[in-house]
Amino acid sequence: MDKFIIRGGNPLVGTVRVSGAKNSALPCMAAAILSEEEITLENIPQVRDIETQRRLLASMGAAVALHEGDARDHVTISCRSLSDPVARYEIVKTMRASSLVLGPLLARAGVARVAMPGGCAIGGRPIDLHIKSLEKMGAVIVQEHGYLEARVDSGVGSRVGRLRGAHIVFDRITVTGTEDLLMAAVLAEGDTLLENCAREPEVVDLAALLTAMGAKIQGAGTSTICVHGVAKLHGARYRINPDRIEAGTLLIAGAITGGDLIVANCNTAHLGAVIAKLRECGARVDVLGPDAARVHGNGRLRAADISTEEYPGFPTDMQAQYMALATQAEGVSLVRENIFENRFMHVQELVRMGANIKVDGNTATVRGPARLSSAAVMCSDLRASASLVLAALVADGESVIDRVYHMDRGYEHIEDKLRGVGAQIQRLGNVFVPRQEKPSYLNQPA
Ligand code: EPU
Repeated sequence: MDKFIIRGGNPLVGTVRVSGAKNSALPCMAAAILSEEEITLENIPQVRDIETQRRLLASMGAAVALHEGDARDHVTISCRSLSDPVARYEIVKTMRASSLVLGPLLARAGVARVAMPGGCAIGGRPIDLHIKSLEKMGAVIVQEHGYLEARVDSGVGSRVGRLRGAHIVFDRITVTGTEDLLMAAVLAEGDTLLENCAREPEVVDLAALLTAMGAKIQGAGTSTICVHGVAKLHGARYRINPDRIEAGTLLIAGAITGGDLIVANCNTAHLGAVIAKLRECGARVDVLGPDAARVHGNGRLRAADISTEEYPGFPTDMQAQYMALATQAEGVSLVRENIFENRFMHVQELVRMGANIKVDGNTATVRGPARLSSAAVMCSDLRASASLVLAALVADGESVIDRVYHMDRGYEHIEDKLRGVGAQIQRLGNVFVPRQEKPSYLNQPA
């Protein structure tokens, strides 16, 4: 398994470019199921979850080609025929977002067989809200042998039918649930009203792609979305937004190392909560324009509390990285995790590096500044791994970070990017290359 060796102490200086958003790319790739025509997505990050989604679509009969290039990495997906509308456990178990194919498969084929995703390091992550909402649209879903067997009956013999528009109020805000239902609704018969929707930029990205494919959607980015179902969707070309979580992680890297870093190719409009918090901590952040921000760590960070919330609140996907920063801030920072019940797996590893953190329920109390010293630590999930990398960048000596395949799920060539702005970071093992002919990571657990 790959490891990172990081020698801490260097301030990060220079310019670093953000890749496309993994969590936009995943639903947008699933949306290709909705059309017989070709979908081209630009700015696709070369990360492991994207490769998993490619394998999933290919296993259903789609032709998927990942193209590489400097600034225009793109994928073309053609779902002319969907020979096998099944999401197999072997693929689904490595990535929760695979449940995103349930809605589009039902909308396009009237039938779907999707493996239940199972547990996850950050919490139970049920998909009951997806199921309940699709049932309101006329799907019949039963669980058998670890799979969801879903079908829309036409009422005429054994023929499958079409989903029907419905009024759905989500019991709680769910990002992929909103995306799944949006994809179901665009091809449904009649109108669908979705309430208490996620307002994340990734939902807006998906809605923009679907609109480019001919869907009729109003209100994406607000908590109420109206969809007028259409009979068919056509091909489209769409550019994925920059990854706001990668951008936030890099801003923290600049602040924690006391550097002077320009985070380019981002969307600063999506970074409001993170930038506000960094300023509260005493870092100087200048928004240079709609697509770049500069962070100067001026040596002294102050404690500040965070409480994770749905967008536009402080993202749960930035909580672990923020905690690394809080270990270096003067005073007591309270970190409240409100979205997932078990998202503090990084705490014990940060403590092994010398952090002073106590967890009580969903609140971590971080006392700083702590002198971090290098250690051998282990990644438990994607954002926890980012937190450990940030801590290692300021720790004394050389840290060894194990199981970086978690990081490869969502950060594109992160070691090259950090090295490019002055970090001493090296990968031991195989560099992750998301190509069919080099699936070295396939046997590694998610
Ligand atoms: N929930 C339910 N039932 C459901 C769906 C969700 O109870 O049917 C609960 C979850 O257990 C959780 C809360 O609702 O407590 C919110 O979960 P949500 O459904 O919004 O999470 P998700 O859609 O599974 C996406 C991102 C996550 C990100 C969360 C929250 C993708 C592919 N994943 O997950 O990203 O943390 O939204 O913003 O978009 C990551 O990138 O590291 C990551 C985990």
